[in-house]
Amino acid sequence: MSIGTRMEPDRAEGQVNEARAATFAKAAWGFLAYNALVIVWGAYVRASGSGAGCGSHWPTCNGDVIPRPKSIATVVEASHRFTSGIALVGTIVLAIWAFRVFPKGHRVRTASVVSFAFMMGEALIGAGLVLFELVAHDKSAKRGLSMSLHLVNTFFLLASLVLMAHFASGGRALRFKNQGFARWPLVGALTGMLFVGTSGGIAALGDTLFPATSVGQAIAQDFSASAHIFLRLRMFHPVFAGCCGLLILGAATVSRTLRPGDPKVLRMSQIVSYLFFTQLLVGVTNMGLLAPIPVQLLHLVVADSLWVSLVLLTAHTLAFGQDTKPLTIDANTTTTAALATEPAAPH
Ligand code: HEM
Repeated sequence: MSIGTRMEPDRAEGQVNEARAATFAKAAWGFLAYNALVIVWGAYVRASGSGAGCGSHWPTCNGDVIPRPKSIATVVEASHRFTSGIALVGTIVLAIWAFRVFPKGHRVRTASVVSFAFMMGEALIGAGLVLFELVAHDKSAKRGLSMSLHLVNTFFLLASLVLMAHFASGGRALRFKNQGFARWPLVGALTGMLFVGTSGGIAALGDTLFPATSVGQAIAQDFSASAHIFLRLRMFHPVFAGCCGLLILGAATVSRTLRPGDPKVLRMSQIVSYLFFTQLLVGVTNMGLLAPIPVQLLHLVVADSLWVSLVLLTAHTLAFGQDTKPLTIDANTTTTAALATEPAAPH
């Protein structure tokens, strides 16, 4: 029996059971939040110098499958391995679940597979850091490169996880083609965030390995020709952040100007702008207080939130133009069929 009409967002061929999709979506959002906690705990491992807490053993901890807590560092490192292990299993479970709930070719399936790939990337980079002893007091350029790679991989993991949750909640597919000017500021802002994040990772290593006793000393370190490369690169981070800020605020303004009347684009563009200014404030505080661990972690939480919000702003802005036909919902089966039409001409 037909009980009403609605805009069906699903462009994939086939059928989606609404109730099952809604349960999956809740789990996917919860999983994103869980991963954010794992990431922050990973930063604590670095900031507290606990990365060698399990020796140079991986996947065992000091050769033990169930580690004996020899030191606080062992507890910190082992708990990070345990929680990230659960995250890895979580991506497998969600991928299997996505394949059961969503039809062939559906974007939730794709996002779940991509999430799994980036989660494997996280595990391999983490294993590499431990096995090659690029942890604790190691000051090598290799460590700087791997930390930067780790940060970029984490950003892509977060992007795939948030897109999986967004698509499962009915978010429409992203279209890059025929989007006019709207796409370019977003591409610029997302790329800029990768540079800011990477330079932030280097700054974080500099702060952890060469703690300064005053802001004056930290600035002198940054400009000293004999200072370590991490310290000399550290000053680029706020510069990149300022330039990227212009791209982020520009992307937010362009998105809401070119998508007038879209409440989701407006909301996300406001969130992105607020988060950017918050991050500037936290960043300056971080520097002024010589990067105490709680402020470092807060700075990372805001960086990840800003990134996730920018991805969502992109998803809402680039979904524009995918008009759909109203279709009927069958009350007996609670199943709807996808009837997407050709996109309308965008701005
Ligand atoms: C868009 C703005 C910004 C973003 C996205 C951002 C992002 C990041 C990231 C991802 C890290 C590495 C965190 C970690 O691995 O633990 C970091 C570190 C750092 N950032 Fe930023 N940052 C921004 C702005 C700023 C500003 C304006 C300043 C200072 C004026 C600043 C100061 C620092 C410092 C001192 C560190 C090293 C200590 C730490 O780990 O927190 N940041 N930033």
